[in-house]
Order: sequence, then C-alpha cells, then structure tokens
Amino acid sequence: MCLRSARPPRWADDRFVPRSHGFASTLFNQSKLSCVLVTGGAGFIGSALVRHLVRETDVTVVNVDALTYAANPDSLQEALHHRRHHLERIDICDAAALQAVFQRYRPQVVVHLAAESHVDRSIAAPAAFVRTNVVGTSTLLEVAREHWQGMHGEARQAFRFHHVSTDEVFGSLGSQGAFDETSPYRPNSPYAASKAASDHLVRAWHRTYGLPVVTSNCSNNYGPCQFPEKLIPLVILRALAGESLPVYGDGQQVRDWLYVEDHARALHTVLTRGQVGATYCIGGRAERTNLEVIQAVCAVLDRLRPDPQGSYARLVRYVADRPGHDRRYAIDPSHIERELGWQPQESFDSGIEKTVRWYLDNPQWVDRVQSGAYRQWLEQNYANRPSPT
Ligand code: NAD
Ligand code: DAU
Repeated sequence: MCLRSARPPRWADDRFVPRSHGFASTLFNQSKLSCVLVTGGAGFIGSALVRHLVRETDVTVVNVDALTYAANPDSLQEALHHRRHHLERIDICDAAALQAVFQRYRPQVVVHLAAESHVDRSIAAPAAFVRTNVVGTSTLLEVAREHWQGMHGEARQAFRFHHVSTDEVFGSLGSQGAFDETSPYRPNSPYAASKAASDHLVRAWHRTYGLPVVTSNCSNNYGPCQFPEKLIPLVILRALAGESLPVYGDGQQVRDWLYVEDHARALHTVLTRGQVGATYCIGGRAERTNLEVIQAVCAVLDRLRPDPQGSYARLVRYVADRPGHDRRYAIDPSHIERELGWQPQESFDSGIEKTVRWYLDNPQWVDRVQSGAYRQWLEQNYANRPSPT
C-alpha cells in the first residue's frame, strides 16, 4: 500500500472536484486498529469521541489532555475508569512528555482535538491560542513524525494523524453558498487564524515528510458537556438562573449546527476510512440565526421547566457585537456523505431537545464547571459590554 493516495489530495488550493469513490477507495483496515491517541479528550468534542470509541469499539484510547479550564473529566462518564481508557495529563507543547506517551502506548492513530477553542477568549487574550493551537500542533506533529518514522511494515502504512479543525478557517459567507473542501482560507479571529495555521502545518508535514494525515473541518457543535461559555449552554444556564440572554449585535449571524455525537461518529468514520491527504468538511445542514437558536432553547425550556414569570425569551438582551464577527457559516457535507457514507442522525430540533434535557438532568456537572474562574470570565466578557446604540 502506498503512503500517499493515488488520487490527488483534497487540499483547499488543489481545486479538486469531489467525486464519489464509494467504500472501495478507503485505505485503512479497521480490524487492525488497537490503540488511538486522542488529544483534548477531556473537552467537549474530545470527550464525546472518547465515550464513542470506548462504547462502540474495542480500541484502547490514550487521552492526552492538559486539563485546562475547558476540560472536565466528569464528561468522560463511563469511559473515565474503563480499562481501555488512559487519561494522561500532558501539555501538547511538552515534547518530552509526548515522546514518553508515544513510546509507552505505540498508538496507530492520533486524533488531534486539543486546542484553545473560544473565539471571545481569543479576542481578549490571543497568546494562549498561538501557543496551544500553533506551537502545540507543531510539537505534536514532530513527535508523531518521529514515532511514525520508527514504525515498520503494515503498522507504518496504517498510521494516521487526524487533525480536527473548524469551518472558521474559511472566514465569513454572504447570504448564499456554503464552504466545502475547495474553499479558500480567510480566517478572521485570532482563534480562526491559529486553527488555520495548524491546518497549514498539518498539510506541510504531509507534503514535506509524507506523514499520513487527514483533516476535518466541522461546523458549530452543540450537545451534552459543552462548557457554558459557548452560546447554547450559556443560554440554557443563564435562562434557568433568570439572567439576561446576551445577543451579540443584531442576532442575525448564521451558524450551521451539528449535534456533538454526530460529529464523534463522523470523526470515527474519517479516522478509519478517510483518505490520506484528504480534507473532509462536516456539518449538519442546520443553519439557524443566533436569535432563532436562542428562541429554540427558550421554547424547549418553556415546555420542560416553565417559569411562572413567563417565557424565558423575555430575558433576551442585545449587547455590543463581537469584534470581527463572522456573519454566516454553512458547510456543504456532500463529500463525506458520498465518499464515506456519513450523515447526521439528529435534526436541530431533536438535538436541542436532548441538549436542554441533559443540562436539566446533570446539575452536578453544571455546578462543578461554574467555578470562580467561570464567573470571572462572565464578568470580563459581559459586564462592560454596552448595548448597541
Ligand atoms: P474544548 O475547549 O471544549 O476542549 C479543548 C480541550 O483541549 C480541553 O480538554 C483542554 O484541556 C485541552 N487542551 C487545551 N490546551 C491544551 C494543551 N496545551 N495541551 C493539551 N490539552 C489542551 O474544545 P472543543 O469545543 O471540544 O473543540 C475540540 C476541537 O474541535 C478543537 O480543536 C476545535 O478547534 C475543534 N472544533 C470545535 C468546534 C465546536 O463547535 N466546538 C467545531 C469545529 C471544530
Ligand atoms: O464554527 C465552528 C466553531 O464554532 C468552533 O471552531 C469554535 O471552537 C466554537 O466555539 C464555535 O465558534 P462560535 O464563535 O460560532 O461559537 P459561540 O458559541 O461562541 O457563538 C455562536 C454564535 O453566537 C456566534 O455568532 C456568537 C454568538 N454569541 C455568542 C455568545 C457566547 C452571542 O450572540 N452571544 C453570546 O453570549
């Protein structure tokens, strides 16, 4: 088997027109997969992937996570103490610690999710985003390359480095169209720029060193265990507390929402069947304005936990916009649908219902993430945010 696909890699500037090649074109023998190293596996999406892999497969999962404010081992649920799950508290900028973990577990696949992920924090303090998302990714790539170059035979051929990225690297859309694998990179926030840089590093490690990589760019995720700095859990928890629901600008910005467990299944599909050197755009075909999202959350809360004072929608407040706020994101997921047969299982309505129920049913998880540091962030981001004039 060749290290590179016979087909041209589907990088953003290759202008490759996606075509269906069906399952016959896949390169990875899933039955040989025994150890996956996941970075950022104690975060929102990473923990969903770890839970999925432990539940649905026989692989051993090595979970490398620095356990920053965004991590929560409680999110791992039944996987936390599972015999096939190993949580290693390691910073991805620490090459020596990474080398030790690669030597110990000899992973066949790396799925790289560890990142600073919140746009507003990247505007307030960008340095941490450059450190983890750029320096951390290059450190991980070098350790993975050394590991892969020391492998032989089938193990070396089967090795994959799956980089998990975002649609934000493509910038902002007008009212029509959608991002796909040929969209040019136009990042607008420090977060998006740092993720774009990490995508470029991954591409370069493939082109220059032949590291067998695959990259996925996904739209907005929502679901259980999301840290409540992000829109949907923020709105759920603030509504339940009777606090204002902050809408940036006019609330007409559009995001394309995907239930996190559908993303976990997509990642599993890509890491086992994706083509080396390819990129896959993942999205839920569920575009909503921010105001529609907030209203949908309020409607579910009104039904499940009615407030005697009236609909939670009464708490909506317009506040100053996010600087450089991208107007619209949308993903065309035809390539992954056609080539790998993946499709989301949840609609936006069913996913929102499940998400609201999860936050209502898990007050202990909620209490533990609402620490002093979280209250401090709310104070910093919202207290001095004047209403638009
Ligand atoms: P998250 O903030 O919930 O989790 C990030 C995890 O990375 C945390 O567990 C944190 O402790 C860990 N981490 C941070 N810095 C680290 C470091 N230096 N070393 C090791 N671990 C570190 O993020 P998320 O929302 O789960 O996103 C995961 C990945 O998916 C990110 O790469 C993000 O860019 C990408 N992504 C997110 C979304 C979304 O909607 N949330 C959409 C598309 C892509
Ligand atoms: O598109 C994928 C990206 O989605 C991921 O790469 C990021 O890691 C993830 O955080 C998310 O970025 P967004 O900036 O789109 O998500 P956030 O939940 O922060 O905001 C969603 C929208 O809601 C956005 O247009 C800003 C708006 N918003 C957000 C907050 C926190 C508000 O109007 N009010 C708020 O208080």
